[in-house]
Amino acid sequence: MPVWISIKMSDFRAVFPDFVARSLRLLNRSPRFAFWLACVVMAIPTALTLAGMVQPAAIAVVNPVDIMLRDPGRISLVLLLIALAIAPLRQLSVELATSFDCRYGKRMSDWNWLLRLRRPVGVASFIHAVAHLAIYIVFDLDLRMQEFTLDLRDKPFVAVGTASFLMLLPLALTSTDGWMRRMGPYWKRLHWLIYPAAVLAALHFILLAKPGVQQPLVFAVLLALLLGHRMAGRRRQTRGVQEQDDGTFPERTIVTPRPRGLQAKASHMIHTPTTKS
Ligand code: HEM
Repeated sequence: MPVWISIKMSDFRAVFPDFVARSLRLLNRSPRFAFWLACVVMAIPTALTLAGMVQPAAIAVVNPVDIMLRDPGRISLVLLLIALAIAPLRQLSVELATSFDCRYGKRMSDWNWLLRLRRPVGVASFIHAVAHLAIYIVFDLDLRMQEFTLDLRDKPFVAVGTASFLMLLPLALTSTDGWMRRMGPYWKRLHWLIYPAAVLAALHFILLAKPGVQQPLVFAVLLALLLGHRMAGRRRQTRGVQEQDDGTFPERTIVTPRPRGLQAKASHMIHTPTTKS
């Protein structure tokens, strides 16, 4: 029998969490590695779209300009939602790690790597929005900018998409560490624009979809859930939880497990610095 089949389940349990913990610790220790890993993962859908566009079968069936226009729009919206989902995902991870008494992940700072991905994901969303707009102007409008002005007036989905794009623009321009330092507390305030930008992007999709197409509504529901969670989270945060400007927590900040019963709501997420590694 091969060696790997003879490994017992208990061995697997002993090795697996340790392997996961080591990998996550590595991600936390080397933000650059986490950044490049995210870039590679995010490049995959774009590469697949580009590969799909040059397939003769695809060209025969669908107008490649349609695919070129729509796919970056979709990828941009999905990445925007992922950027918004990162903070709730961190909170969920901490709560799961605490509930299952995992070896790693009970402290907010254990998930700093996840929070650090928010900016690259947001920037990638913007890059796809730029590609989407460029393809629209170059291939759909043949660079006739007066047609763009007419579309802005006559097609509400174009006006709404443009408003969303204009909100994403300052976020992408100020996404560097330098701008974050220079702007101080205003950086966080400005980056709240991601919420209306996402709402407008979802509305853009709803307005342009043909009647009976459900996908834009799925995006809208997901977005509503994320916004609801964010608003609840904001109320919790005002009770003394101190995030750093980029959303990460100081190293070794822990979250006490959620207490049971009626006290749970009041005392949830108290952060205490600890020297445990
Ligand atoms: C500068 C502003 C924008 C313009 C002029 C624009 C224009 C367009 C056009 C012409 C279409 C194709 C409509 C059709 O199929 O008839 C489209 C589709 C789409 N756009 Fe935009 N857009 C803009 C910004 C955005 C942004 C910022 C996002 C997302 C963050 C976005 C996401 C989408 C999505 C998801 C679709 C639908 C793709 C599909 O049908 O599968 N757009 N847009």
